[in-house]
Amino acid sequence: MAKRLFSGIQPSGNLHLGNYLGAIKQWVEMQDDNEAIFCIVDLHAITVAQDPAELRRKTLEIAKIYLAAGIDPAKSTLFIQSHVSAHAELGWILNTIARMAELERMTQFKEKSSDVAKRIQQRTLAAKVLQEEVIEEDPGRRLARLQLERESLQRYASVGVGLFDYPVLMAADILLYDTNVVPVGDDQMQHVELTRTLAERFNKRFGETFVIPEGKITKEGARIMGLDDPLKKMSKSAGSVYNYIALTDDAQTVRKKIKKAVTDSGSEIVYHDEKPALKNLINIYTLLSGKTSQEIEKMYVGKGYGDFKTDLAEVIVGFLTPFQERLAAISDDTVLAVLKTGADKARALAAAKMEQVREHVGFLE
Ligand code: AMP
Ligand code: TRP
Repeated sequence: MAKRLFSGIQPSGNLHLGNYLGAIKQWVEMQDDNEAIFCIVDLHAITVAQDPAELRRKTLEIAKIYLAAGIDPAKSTLFIQSHVSAHAELGWILNTIARMAELERMTQFKEKSSDVAKRIQQRTLAAKVLQEEVIEEDPGRRLARLQLERESLQRYASVGVGLFDYPVLMAADILLYDTNVVPVGDDQMQHVELTRTLAERFNKRFGETFVIPEGKITKEGARIMGLDDPLKKMSKSAGSVYNYIALTDDAQTVRKKIKKAVTDSGSEIVYHDEKPALKNLINIYTLLSGKTSQEIEKMYVGKGYGDFKTDLAEVIVGFLTPFQERLAAISDDTVLAVLKTGADKARALAAAKMEQVREHVGFLE
């Protein structure tokens, strides 16, 4: 039986090859055998400050990127999260069963709210250490430490509630549609786990309401690493443009970035955990060409990084050029019409689920 599949992407930053290989490419492949719903999560995007005009522009652009990447509106539902108010409504209800400690544990929150959230987690421990230290600490050191402490607490105090609550809204996104499968990058698996926990808790307390979803990551695509640092994932917020290949990079830029990509010691082209930079480049090659890593190793026996990188750049350009041509050909009106149809479909599904939820919670009809 066809499975209901749901995934979302934020309309922020420049989408890069990691987003495509780790998320969008899988969606395109899965839409044939599943009943897929893809959501552009603008309510999530505003958990960090956004310029309104830029947000509108990005939202439209992301929708076009989905279509250019091969999301087919005849097969899949594509819509904007804020067009379906049930997301916010269910998010609120789920807030009442989510626990502070569960959200404090979320890696993405800890990263986005800086070191301070981690400290909050460790506060019991810290308080103990503090008590012991204060007695023998010299006054100058103590003052400096307290100053630091105060600054981090002030920073924590200014972190938005929305950022903290982000995973609960994501749970609402998923649970509204009786989702079976959630294809995401590995950084989002923790949020999918939380979604399962909330669904189970709700079902137990209020009666069978939500389908328990499963997260799905593909092995090679799950984590595309930075071209300038293979130990960190490729990221649109990276310090250097040489970290990522944007989906909008032109051929010259791609060639330059691949040429500059860091490599490992030695000169053979081998796929190995001990060569993380090369492994990452081979992963990209594999995912875009359909060749296996063994086939790629064989192609470059007796050759070096130079040949490998030249070919890899052309494989990427060979994907990006037609992609960008399709992107440029999609008009605003076309995409707006797709989004309207998508929102109408999603709204109907969400309304049916919300009716159940309201009844189970005990809201008067
Ligand atoms: P983000 O860009 O963080 O909003 O992520 C959008 C989607 O792309 C999520 O499913 C992420 O897990 C995925 N993603 C982001 N960066 C990478 C990466 N470097 N490798 C693989 N997937 C990624
Ligand atoms: N949190 C996801 C990300 O940052 C985006 C997202 C929002 C999502 N709601 C979702 C992904 C529901 C899958 C399902 O990438």
